[in-house]
Amino acid sequence: MTDGVIPSPNIWRSPDVYEVENLGVDPDGVIEAAMREIRDWTGATVLDIGCGTGFHLPRFAGSGAARVIGVEPHPPLVAAAERRVLGLQGVEVRSGTAQALPVPDASVDVVHARWAYFFGTGCEPGLAEIGRVLRRGGAAFVIDNDATRSTFGAWFRRALPDHDPAAVERFWARQGWQRRSLDIRWEQPDRARFESVVRIEFAPALADQLLESHPGASVDYAANLFWRTT
Ligand SMILES: C[S@@+](CC[C@H](N)C(=O)[O-])C[C@H]1O[C@@H](n2cnc3c(N)ncnc32)[C@H](O)[C@@H]1O
Repeated sequence: MTDGVIPSPNIWRSPDVYEVENLGVDPDGVIEAAMREIRDWTGATVLDIGCGTGFHLPRFAGSGAARVIGVEPHPPLVAAAERRVLGLQGVEVRSGTAQALPVPDASVDVVHARWAYFFGTGCEPGLAEIGRVLRRGGAAFVIDNDATRSTFGAWFRRALPDHDPAAVERFWARQGWQRRSLDIRWEQPDRARFESVVRIEFAPALADQLLESHPGASVDYAANLFWRTT
């Protein structure tokens, strides 16, 4: 495995179910709307760090970005992302990590990293790289779970009892980043798909318990949008 790569069992083992998950995350577009308010990407070069199968790449291209670059270290996902963007003008995928971005200095306007690598202490090398590649007038966005709120946040705390959300928030504040709390939801078209995505996010016994106590095909979900501008 490449140095500094953080294993992501959900998307590494089950990319097809992760695609289903992505399709049901934030159906109201709360995350993109909040990002756009801070820094619009119309005509911009967007860098998606830890892009996985490239789910967000065509979305940035289709919503105004002039150029979109996805960076991903896990070879099968690099290949999947490349397949996704084949033939899309101005969109490309590069193999690499957040700690050594395969992108020149001051060449990017908007950085996006969603549920990827930037989880608090330990991601300083990636932050230095963001500082290197962002142009003046640019913005960087990190999207992560807010485990202090929401039904999903409570599930997350049960899965990771040692997770310290206050320490994560202190980390970002010390780095000079700002935070916006967002209320989103997961919404799947049916219970079967909802169960399948819960099962790639949680260990089997916990997933059984969560699903037993939670009917339906959606769950409320608190997210943090961490951001800084240059
Ligand atoms: C949970 S997935 C999220 C994928 C994508 N951002 C999305 O929202 O669909 C996390 C991704 O981060 C990637 N990753 C792990 N370590 C990384 C690193 N050091 N630099 C960049 N990406 C990394 C994983 O391979 C995986 O594709």
